[in-house]
Amino acid sequence: MDNFNDLENVKAYLLERLKSASSFDDISKVKSEFLGKKGFLGKLTSDIAKVPTERRKEYGIRLNLLKKDIEDQISTYEKKFEKDLSKLEYSDLYRSLPGKKPPVGHLNIITQAIEEIVEVFAPLGFNRVRYPEVDREYFVFDALNMPETHPARDEWETFFIDYPGDEKLGRLVITPHTSSGQVREMLKGNLPIRMLNISRCGRRQIDISHVPSFYQFEGLVVDENVSTANLIGVLDYFAKKFFGPDRKTRLRPYHFRFTEPSFEVDIDCGICHGKGCKLCKEGWLELGGSGMVHPNVLKAGGIDPGKYTGFAFGWGVERTFMMKSGTKIDDIRYLFSNDLRFLEQF
Ligand code: PHE
Repeated sequence: MDNFNDLENVKAYLLERLKSASSFDDISKVKSEFLGKKGFLGKLTSDIAKVPTERRKEYGIRLNLLKKDIEDQISTYEKKFEKDLSKLEYSDLYRSLPGKKPPVGHLNIITQAIEEIVEVFAPLGFNRVRYPEVDREYFVFDALNMPETHPARDEWETFFIDYPGDEKLGRLVITPHTSSGQVREMLKGNLPIRMLNISRCGRRQIDISHVPSFYQFEGLVVDENVSTANLIGVLDYFAKKFFGPDRKTRLRPYHFRFTEPSFEVDIDCGICHGKGCKLCKEGWLELGGSGMVHPNVLKAGGIDPGKYTGFAFGWGVERTFMMKSGTKIDDIRYLFSNDLRFLEQF
């Protein structure tokens, strides 16, 4: 009878163990204790040898029922804790695991600079416009008082496009400056003009402060009684707003075919503050040209130079940005390198 008692006891013990289990791991332990190689069930199976022959059949049947019972009980508890386990993982996802943040970029530095330039000029009534970046020679040179044979054209280092020329408007070129927008703006016929033309330009050049593809912003004002004093006032205003009150600018007499008189606008170098360094050499960095619109340009734009006068200026966006306070960029080519270690600093 002892052996039969063992069957009952094992069942009672199992239930007791399962009730006190508190995790999936506890159930796993119970499982190997009862069903594992050296577990209770294995012991009871080998005990069959001790059971009197005539009762072995009955013992075998009860043993099988017990085994089935144990398996059922254990799997019920396993399911219970399995559910709890998945609930735990699920809620953890939302409670304590930080989410994965996608990398967030920002506007390119040049776009940021363009937006800032637009904001500085907007209160003065300058209207942002854009003209073709690939244009006819006429608007790029001829309309700007630079006839075909004039040697000054050589200085513009222009990319010509392999495309049929136009009898009147000439060859197709990548605009080497935004001044090509001047006559296009005048021909719209809306006076007075306060134009801010910002677009991409191309020239055959590459070194520490020049790249073949760059941006310029061009201001053009045409109205009655516009004088050089107005030009200087606008340039001063821009310099103070954009670079900060501690930066200095200066005008140098210069020559452009499309302005008379003409000036070059310089700003003291933001890296060495006028002492001279790798970038500026002499302490001053050229921002770009400016001057009073030449009467022939006004005429090409259908404007009477006897009644109207104007001024214009055209500077490189990248170079202007590089000269801004606190921006220690000593090679313009970084701006186009697409190196995140550089770009993420702005
Ligand atoms: N277009 C000239 C240049 O690219 C700059 C300029 C613009 C000069 C307007 C005078 C007036 O160098």
